[in-house]
Amino acid sequence: MAGSGEWAGILPEGEPPKIDTTVAHPARIYDYWLGGKDNFAADREAAEATLAGNPYIVPGVRANRQFLAAAVRYLAGEAGIRQFLDIGTGLPTGNSTHESAQSVAPDSRVVYVDNDPIVITHARALLVGQPGTTAYVHADLRDPAGIVREASRTLDFGEPVAIMLLMILMHISDDDRPHELVARLLDAVPPGSYLVISETANDVDAEVIAASQEEYNQRVTATQWASRTSETFARYFSGLEIVEPGLVTMGLWRPAPGAALPPRPIPAYCGVARKPAAG
Ligand SMILES: C[S@@+](CC[C@H](N)C(=O)[O-])C[C@H]1O[C@@H](n2cnc3c(N)ncnc32)[C@H](O)[C@@H]1O
Repeated sequence: MAGSGEWAGILPEGEPPKIDTTVAHPARIYDYWLGGKDNFAADREAAEATLAGNPYIVPGVRANRQFLAAAVRYLAGEAGIRQFLDIGTGLPTGNSTHESAQSVAPDSRVVYVDNDPIVITHARALLVGQPGTTAYVHADLRDPAGIVREASRTLDFGEPVAIMLLMILMHISDDDRPHELVARLLDAVPPGSYLVISETANDVDAEVIAASQEEYNQRVTATQWASRTSETFARYFSGLEIVEPGLVTMGLWRPAPGAALPPRPIPAYCGVARKPAAG
């Protein structure tokens, strides 16, 4: 795909960051759950330990990618959005934000943000071509001002932007005030912008999630996994106009016609909302 223009974009300058393959990392664990090949022994061990006793992970991560694609197609189509800020990109996989957006609206601009060195390394290999369409920023969600500053090289923050936070807020501890981080990102975009979030739940089959989370957090020490209640999830969207079908468990946001629905609720929430005009 390199050089095809499909991932044409802007890359950060400087030496590629160092990657420690002996320590499990969230992006590579997630890649393993999705059936990818960009992972190492430590990641696979952590991924398998977390999977044991948790039947939701594999259907959950697949449904999350379907949610991403459905939400982006809705935004690029019906909602007319042309700018996407996808924070916590993860490793390249199917149903990426730029693929979904640009399949509907080829002029869509996408900025990917992640703090994992392996994600930047993949971006270096794939983001080859003309600058401007898809850019990559190596940054941390805990620095929203820095993200907006870097992303504004590619996105016009005077025009609506879709802020995408899929399965990343679960890596932000309560001490790092995830709701304030979301609010600061929303402050940086004009009315008519959108917020898209997915996050794991701790009030659906709570015991299974707690046990699985403990296995994960014993192995992935630098970035922990926190899950939240439906009420806490809903607070991210305070003051916004929630898009139908509302805030739902994973797999229930506009499933493809004829798609099989999850046989029981998946312990993860997802939703899309619009920032209204002030007043
Ligand atoms: C579980 S993956 C989700 C990938 C993709 N958003 C999805 O939903 O399919 C979480 C991603 O968030 C990134 N991440 C975790 N904490 C982060 C932070 N504080 N700032 C930026 N990226 C972060 C990880 O490196 C990883 O790539």
